[in-house]
Amino acid sequence: MSKNLGVTVLLTGLSGAGKSTICQVVEQKLRLIGRKVEVLDGDQVRQNLTKGLGFSKEDRQENIRRVSFVAHLLTRNDVIVLVPLIAPYREMREEMRCLIGNFIEVYVNAPLAACEQRDVKGLYKQARLGKIQQFTGIDDPYEVPLYPDVECDTVQESIAESANKVLIKLEELGYISYSRRFVDFPEELTVSR
Ligand code: ADX
Repeated sequence: MSKNLGVTVLLTGLSGAGKSTICQVVEQKLRLIGRKVEVLDGDQVRQNLTKGLGFSKEDRQENIRRVSFVAHLLTRNDVIVLVPLIAPYREMREEMRCLIGNFIEVYVNAPLAACEQRDVKGLYKQARLGKIQQFTGIDDPYEVPLYPDVECDTVQESIAESANKVLIKLEELGYISYSRRFVDFPEELTVSR
């Protein structure tokens, strides 16, 4: 039997760390080499698959469980599933790994101060003002991954460098044949943070 080439890539990190941005680049490059890709983005799944869930520990657990269920179905059908999710609890990330099997954990590391300074969605400001509660990093925990498969430092690295780390890991583990000629991909495929 041939190896299942599907894999779920969980990109975990604080809001604003750059998870979705890295995903966009990884997605584009995987499509360029002809792979089937799906992205289950926290912000998007919360508008449909997990609509109505909040940010208590229980709701975050339910969120990741539903996403894991779908990711599992796709993964076993040879799809590469990119999952940019805060996923703040170690135990829940491990549960996801156990369920899916073909799984890579990417820690998208940016210090809280950097994420807060970027504040792309203006949510940190609202959290500091007390208008949003249980905001990860402010008044809710984020458990740093102890042994991530890949760690991206989005303060020091470019988006392309971070994305390449993910692609190189996928290649190392045999999920893709990733040609270095895709490293310098066309300008129209670049995204800005
Ligand atoms: S998770 O903790 O359940 O994994 P998820 O990745 O789905 O979180 O959603 C995070 C996104 O929801 C953030 O990027 C942000 O846009 C939004 N959000 C709204 N309220 C909160 C909150 N209290 N904590 C974290 N993110 C929040």
